[in-house]
Amino acid sequence: MNEIDLDKIDLTQPPPEHEPERQYYFMAKCREYVRAESKRLGRPLICGAFTFGCQMNARDSEKLLGILEAVGFRPTENEQADFVIYNTCTVRDNANQRVYGRLGELNRYKKQNPQMKVALCGCMMQEPTVIEKLKKSYPFIDLIFGTHNIYKFAELLCASFETEGMLIDIWEDTDKIVEDLPVERKYPFKSGINIMFGCNNFCSYCIVPYVRGRERSREPKEIIREIERLVADGVVEVMLLGQNVNSYGKNLEEPVTFAQLLREVEKIEGLRRIRFMTSHPKDLSEELIEVMKQSKKICRHLHLPLQSGSTRILQQMNRRYTKEQYLELAERIRREIPDIAITTDIIVGFPGETPEDLEETLDVVRRVKYDNAFTFIYSKRTGTPAAAMENQVPPEQVKEGFDRLLKLVQETAREQVAKYQGQVMEALIEEVNENDASLVTGRLSNNTIVHLPGDASLIGKIVPVLLDECHGFYYIGHCILEETGAE
Ligand code: SAH
Ligand code: SF4
Ligand code: F3S
Repeated sequence: MNEIDLDKIDLTQPPPEHEPERQYYFMAKCREYVRAESKRLGRPLICGAFTFGCQMNARDSEKLLGILEAVGFRPTENEQADFVIYNTCTVRDNANQRVYGRLGELNRYKKQNPQMKVALCGCMMQEPTVIEKLKKSYPFIDLIFGTHNIYKFAELLCASFETEGMLIDIWEDTDKIVEDLPVERKYPFKSGINIMFGCNNFCSYCIVPYVRGRERSREPKEIIREIERLVADGVVEVMLLGQNVNSYGKNLEEPVTFAQLLREVEKIEGLRRIRFMTSHPKDLSEELIEVMKQSKKICRHLHLPLQSGSTRILQQMNRRYTKEQYLELAERIRREIPDIAITTDIIVGFPGETPEDLEETLDVVRRVKYDNAFTFIYSKRTGTPAAAMENQVPPEQVKEGFDRLLKLVQETAREQVAKYQGQVMEALIEEVNENDASLVTGRLSNNTIVHLPGDASLIGKIVPVLLDECHGFYYIGHCILEETGAE
């Protein structure tokens, strides 16, 4: 976003109707409140935004922080702040439980610091039962809003400065996409970019379509413009985000495919790496494989969620592919792009899953040889078709299956990751190693982590690294040359 000059906004006028101008107006107004409060306390106001969910949730938190900083808050990493916002997730029950657990603690901080404000937003807030519970048991919360009106954060924050007690604003859906609001990135050198919002797939176990609404794609030119600005600001790697990027652009006035979008992103000068998340196997096109194969910038990593290897369970899950179709797709990708890493998500314990179904899943894992896999225990989400299914699997059976799967995916991942020992690969250096300050941590194109001697001056650079030793899921290596030339 270009610098917005909040000083030029005339607050004696009524707020504009149009977005994003309306939010700029409320940002200017919030800034007045923050200034006044800061003067009263004789110190700057501190804020914290905490992410509980996926990359899209994390990107939303960067937007929240963008507004908070624009109105004068200073960010902090802990919860002892004047304004704390939890950006929640509800994909599995443990995500919800973490929020409730930490709310208890927030209540204690608020008692010590009574002018502190607590806000909640994100996917969990789209569930009416959650709101009821918060109203009843957590009355100290000041502001609650959902996923569809996050672009109104400045306006809601302003209203919360002007109200006593709990302010709640939840929308059922929206078809609106508001561009050009401020964003505060976590990393200077890499960034997520939303290319679409919502999901239309309704996998039978999943709550995302209910809490994120219908699928909406951003215009390609808006996406390109955002990436160009990010690159001008030092970003070398982007991650294009959507629940199902392979169906990107289908509902635009002038339809565009995801592969076409990637071709345009590839052309952006100065951009070095392109990632994306997530690919639904049912919509992965021949064209996409072709574009990936030819690309110099698209990273050698594909996240291709399997969920189950049993065709019968896949059908119950409404995934719309069979075990054979998935295997065929994975084989084709490995054949066309041999150095690609394939990762996945798998759910154990979906209603009606038998030990034989689990065998089918293990079989797919053995054949695809995932480079990494996220394994989840099925979590019943109220309102989804699977929650109403009979024959929920007993916990002991789920646990046993889960342990077997985990062991297998760890074995294949170890084997896959170790394949590159002794080779030189480019790594984007992301941070100084948390445990050993003489090392830095980088990421290879295939998403594997490598630790190497170096210092903070390397952060954000892409350097060639000799992968000396594989330690299970990561490498220890060393940089063999100067930074590789930027284009
Ligand atoms: N849109 C992405 C997934 C988003 S949710 C996709 O379709 O691939 C991330 C992962 O959470 C899913 O891939 C799935 O494995 C898991 N998940 C979703 N709902 C779940 C549930 N009810 N119980 C357990 N895991 C679930
Ligand atoms: Fe959920 Fe399926 Fe949509 Fe992914 S594609 S968000 S698993 S409904
Ligand atoms: Fe969670 Fe919402 Fe993402 S439910 S996984 S934060 S889309």
